Amino acid sequence: MSAIEKTLVLVKPDGVKKHICGEVISRFERKGLEVEAIKMIQVPEELAKKHYEEHEGKGFFKDLIAFITSGPVLVMVIKGENAVAAVRQINGATDPLKAVPGSIRGDFATSIDENVVHASDAPETAEREIGLWFPELKK
Ligand code: PPS
Repeated sequence: MSAIEKTLVLVKPDGVKKHICGEVISRFERKGLEVEAIKMIQVPEELAKKHYEEHEGKGFFKDLIAFITSGPVLVMVIKGENAVAAVRQINGATDPLKAVPGSIRGDFATSIDENVVHASDAPETAEREIGLWFPELKK
């Protein structure tokens, strides 16, 4: 089934440092998806903790928060047909060793804790994450 969806995408600090923000955007655009909102920010710790709250208590949580707040992050709302699944396919698997070549993580990421991009995993998650990262878009 096809639907026009929105999803929240981050180019994480490692992706920004690798100078591949343009490459990431280009891959979404080439697939027919569009950038509806975009900004570069230094992530406040409080926002990082809210974003990743489902992982609180896991062994990697502290390092994950330290990493995502370690440098500027590109934040985007990507819109288009089946955007949630389409973006996750373009990004590739969370673990770069499992991400296929040709996906963003397959091509550019080296470890599961520094894996270049984040994308919402479901339309409901996307709505929550877009509200969190773009409060200024709320009506
Ligand atoms: S899991 O295994 O179900 O918790 O994984 P997932 O829901 O796909 O996302 C986990 C996010 O945390 C980041 N991260 C790690 N995951 C697993 N193991 C380690 N050591 C780890 N370190 C960091 C991982 O990159 C996922 O980030 P996002 O931004 O959601 O892709």
